[in-house]
Amino acid sequence: DTASDLNPTAAVTTTDEPHSRREIIASTPKYMIFSAVIASLGSFNNGYNTSVFNIPENVIRFCNGVVPPDHKQGGLPDCIPMDNFQWGMAVAMFAIGGLIGGVLGGPGITRLGRRGAMIWNNLFLIVGSLLVSTTSSVTQLVVGRTIVGIGCGGACVISPTYLSEIATVEARGALGAMNQLFIVLGILVVECLGLGLSSPPVWRVLTIIPALVGIGQMIGCLFINETPRYLVLQGRISDAEHALKRLRGGRDVSEELYEIMNPQGAGDGSPRLNASDSDSDKGDAAGQTKDGDEKQADGTNSINVWQLLRGRGGGPYHLFKPLLFASVFSAVQQLSGINGVMFYSTSIFDKLFSNSQTPQHITVGTGGLNVVMTVITMGLVDRLGRKILTLISAGGMTVSSIVIVIASAANSDVLVIVFVFLFIAFFAVGLGVTPWLFMTETFPTYAQSAASSWCMILNWFCNFIVGLIFPSLQSGLGDATFVPFAAITGAFTLFVLFFVPETKGKPVDEVISMLH
Ligand code: GLC
Repeated sequence: DTASDLNPTAAVTTTDEPHSRREIIASTPKYMIFSAVIASLGSFNNGYNTSVFNIPENVIRFCNGVVPPDHKQGGLPDCIPMDNFQWGMAVAMFAIGGLIGGVLGGPGITRLGRRGAMIWNNLFLIVGSLLVSTTSSVTQLVVGRTIVGIGCGGACVISPTYLSEIATVEARGALGAMNQLFIVLGILVVECLGLGLSSPPVWRVLTIIPALVGIGQMIGCLFINETPRYLVLQGRISDAEHALKRLRGGRDVSEELYEIMNPQGAGDGSPRLNASDSDSDKGDAAGQTKDGDEKQADGTNSINVWQLLRGRGGGPYHLFKPLLFASVFSAVQQLSGINGVMFYSTSIFDKLFSNSQTPQHITVGTGGLNVVMTVITMGLVDRLGRKILTLISAGGMTVSSIVIVIASAANSDVLVIVFVFLFIAFFAVGLGVTPWLFMTETFPTYAQSAASSWCMILNWFCNFIVGLIFPSLQSGLGDATFVPFAAITGAFTLFVLFFVPETKGKPVDEVISMLH
């Protein structure tokens, strides 16, 4: 079962047959799960850093009012007093760092490979976390947060791409959802630790943990393979075959390898390889596209973000529709207002419960609900499909936002809390997960890095905008804060209903021809 034994006529698989969850779990090799967990540690760091300052804000900025702000232990001040603008910078520069990480992530996974990029990306997390946790000035804190943000933005490109490229078609949704699961686990863990580690100067311990997770991922990378799709793109066919075999628990992989090498739909611009190609053809195979696109400097024929946006998809595919859908999903994930709740839940609930720790506990409750609902979604996404889950999610968020507005105006605290929880639950069953899937399963491998990069640039930009304007919306619109978010998710619901096709269980190449 080497690459040269591949039978072209056997290449068509029917992948949309129903598969029970138990069947999928039973047939998922342990090594694939292990690789997925290692890759998802980047997502964990992303979620962790998103919420790291949610609960300890008071301690870091004001020393909780307990000790004088100039009190020092071990040479480092207990807290870093910051005015609103300085604090806003610390929060916003994380998102700007994320955007930079999104820009770097594309070329990173093209040049260094998915696994290589994962290793190097952790340097940002390690250096940034060290700067934040040893900070004695606002400047050092803001610089550290920006560098941590670069690592998180990079992880947003690397982890989903890695997960999608090692997954079987049947488990692609569940494995892709692991990215989101680890993000929300990161959020929950930091919220729980935040309750215990918030006193001055213990918050410094809280901010060093991402460096440890990063080192853990670097060590884990020693034991995982580069993705078969990337290896094929580089023309390293027998390496790809070896990696695929390991990921599939030693099963026969000739059909799957053939499909990776020969995507359905001639002219999609991917490298066209014959079954007889071997490593001796390296370079040629990787550099050849059907319509003669030139090979890129990195030895693969991946396109960059600029080429993707200009419509240079190669062959007759211009990737306009995949690009449109993935962009809208990525932007709306943030413009739904989810991080308004993730960043400011404590302050939303503070208004309802003055002078108590209850808001912090409710914040931990929202984190827990997010995890539980994401786990449930992992089981649903390959069965119900992306479209229906996104519809339920966006429709449910629209209704929840409207009820939050009405309940706030009517001063009904209980209703506000219930619908903030529902808002999060509806986010988790769709918009939390499906944008990652759209980003990674609607593009051919040669456009994958550019597409992920672009979607993450958009995602972090919108994240930045929401983080920035949410406090102003709260003070400007008051009870009506959620009206703009309701309008966006409402319009998005109609967009999905009328224009977006289902991509569940279809091989990437079939999805591309479907969207063409
Ligand atoms: C998604 C978003 C992230 C958000 C999280 C909340 O991962 O990309 O910004 O914090 O969901 O669950």
